[in-house]
Amino acid sequence: MKILVTGGAGFIGSHVVRRFVNTYPQYTIHNLDKLTYAGNLANLKDVEDAPNYKFIKGDINDKEFLLSLFREEQYDGVIHLAAESHVDRSISGPDAFIQTNVVGTCNLLGAALDIWKNSMTGKRFYHVSTDEVFGSLGAEGKFSETTKYDPRSPYSASKASSDHMVRAYSHTYGMPVVISNCSNNYGSHHFPEKLIPLIINNIKHKKPLPVYGKGENIRDWLWVEDHARAIDVIFHQGVSGETYCVGGNNEWKNIDVVKLICKLMDEKLGRNAGESEQLITYVTDRPGHDARYAIDATKLKTELGWEPTQPFDLLLSKTIDWYLQNEKWLNEVTSGDYMKYYENQYNR
Ligand code: NAD
Ligand code: DAU
Repeated sequence: MKILVTGGAGFIGSHVVRRFVNTYPQYTIHNLDKLTYAGNLANLKDVEDAPNYKFIKGDINDKEFLLSLFREEQYDGVIHLAAESHVDRSISGPDAFIQTNVVGTCNLLGAALDIWKNSMTGKRFYHVSTDEVFGSLGAEGKFSETTKYDPRSPYSASKASSDHMVRAYSHTYGMPVVISNCSNNYGSHHFPEKLIPLIINNIKHKKPLPVYGKGENIRDWLWVEDHARAIDVIFHQGVSGETYCVGGNNEWKNIDVVKLICKLMDEKLGRNAGESEQLITYVTDRPGHDARYAIDATKLKTELGWEPTQPFDLLLSKTIDWYLQNEKWLNEVTSGDYMKYYENQYNR
């Protein structure tokens, strides 16, 4: 099989590329990535010389480039992760989200259809999406594959649009697609604009820990390597045309996650108990902040046998160790443009 992974230099994409390159030496894995601020080839140092791996720098917004790439390489499968992924950035600038997440996805679908139109046998287009397309939950209930779409941020609306286009290609052209909608991931190589790596980095530097609103919003945290394993299972065993919800069965209020990281880091850094918690700073809430996400992943468990690894505190501790041991990685991604973004976001 020749598989094109898009967005493979990003957080989740790099875990997916690593898993596929190492687990399937008989496959050829191409990683197409524009290398935006969120894409980092240092995430894939350990596989960059593997004989079954190739990096291609390119933009999914470039339709002609995609058409000629697909004609030349004749891919059997696509695992599409490339996206603008940060909700706060979508609020301050939605255009890039519409362009890459909606138009870019359509360009990829068009390029795949162009080479597969005469025979779809053995082909697969896997679209990696988010639970945010379902909107915001109250205190009860969970999102599942039958939940109605109700996206509420420019990011989630752009991902919802792309999900609809992928389904349209399945219904209209018979393209063999699968979609998964996953909850919040955490783990190594996560860009520190997102809550968990941002808090780890700020505790390390004794900087204020920005908590939006009252910190009571709830997220369902999933270890990124479990997500990569789910993507592997769904890519190989998922039924064409189907959707799978992926989640950690692991709901936490933001403030409790932040306090847990503080506790673990005080122990690891030899600081006094309670020292890092004093850095917690409540800041202006995110506009339209979704209250709660939670996933019911029963379908994935009963039909494809996938379950998340537990427990959270152990995997979070392992995650913190990775950031503490990979100071160079953290310093490189938090210099330059990142500092400008950080100042705009938190000092407005
Ligand atoms: P990320 O921001 O870390 O990585 C995105 C990658 O896409 C980067 O490498 C970037 O360079 C690349 N990219 C962006 N625009 C591109 C373009 N125009 N052409 C080619 N490459 C481009 O994102 P992530 O957190 O790893 O998320 C990956 C996917 O998973 C996204 O589609 C996201 O919506 C989805 N998702 C993320 C989470 C999460 O918790 N992070 C949860 C569920 C679903
Ligand atoms: O649910 C899946 C989604 O999870 C993915 O589709 C997105 O790509 C990913 O970014 C993530 O979205 P969130 O908005 O939930 O993640 P983020 O890490 O930005 O925020 C997590 C929670 O923490 C959220 O309720 C907002 C809050 N938060 C975030 C930041 C950056 C803070 O309180 N302070 C912060 O500084």
